[in-house]
Amino acid sequence: MDGEEMKNPVIICRCENVTLDEIEKAIEEGFTDLESLKRKLRIGMGPCQGRTCIPVLVRILSRKLRKSPEELLIPKSRPPIVPLPMKMFLVRREEKVEG
Ligand code: FES
Repeated sequence: MDGEEMKNPVIICRCENVTLDEIEKAIEEGFTDLESLKRKLRIGMGPCQGRTCIPVLVRILSRKLRKSPEELLIPKSRPPIVPLPMKMFLVRREEKVEG
């Protein structure tokens, strides 16, 4: 990396502050699919859930691996954990004595 790149890194994921240089380095280290890149760099795991950065990451990966973007596996979106009402965890006193 030259001095200019260090001063003005190209930010790909604004939520998790991941730079182009970090992505390219990770790909060269063998992280060559979207899921492993997400786990290593946390790219796409910020508040926007990758709406901005994942399409750019797909293009970077596509260019580096010389594959079409369609060939690359798109990570599955995971639904948020649904909160459960506390009453589901309460046991009535009568039930506890009987049981
Ligand atoms: S820009 Fe990457 S998760 Fe929001």
